[in-house]
Amino acid sequence: MSTSSNLSMGLIFLVIAAMLGASQGETIVVGGSEQWRYGFNYTDWALKRSPFYVNDTLVFKYEPPSETTPPHNVYLLPNLWSYANCDFSGANLLADAAEGGGNGFEFTLTRPWRPQYFASSGGADAADCKDGLMKFFVVPLPRRRT
Ligand SMILES: *[C@@H]1O[C@H](CO)[C@@H](O)[C@H](O)[C@H]1NC(C)=O
Ligand SMILES: *[C@@H]1O[C@H](CO)[C@@H](O)[C@H](O)[C@H]1NC(C)=O
Repeated sequence: MSTSSNLSMGLIFLVIAAMLGASQGETIVVGGSEQWRYGFNYTDWALKRSPFYVNDTLVFKYEPPSETTPPHNVYLLPNLWSYANCDFSGANLLADAAEGGGNGFEFTLTRPWRPQYFASSGGADAADCKDGLMKFFVVPLPRRRT
């Protein structure tokens, strides 16, 4: 093969690799082996797990409510203030108490640079969020570094 066709083969390969890299995200279980539960520090987890990228999928796995487990859920909070105060008044319910079973609830990050605030409103007076540390935020980066 000539040098120039080697070069164009290489370029085609690079372009394909870049295209594949652009569309594939990672699947990330929130909390890792701790999953989505009361009392685990998700702010800390998110800091250590970052960066997150557009097209990464967050998986929330949690127990359905029972005598020993109060209900957990997943909300998207509208802004930093509501996140800081665990105020769910303008929040958007993504997954209810029953949706964390099996393979869990999946949420794919789409908006680059936009902070996205996640929290559970479970328990009396949003205890999951206020006392149970069940909140974190991510700022998805536009693309994975290769
Ligand atoms: C995300 O995935 C979509 C659909 O597969 C793709 O068109 C897009 O380029 C991807 N975006 C990034 C930043 O990877
Ligand atoms: C949770 O982790 C964050 C970040 O590491 C830390 O600032 C915070 O104090 C922790 N909260 C608790 C209650 O331990």
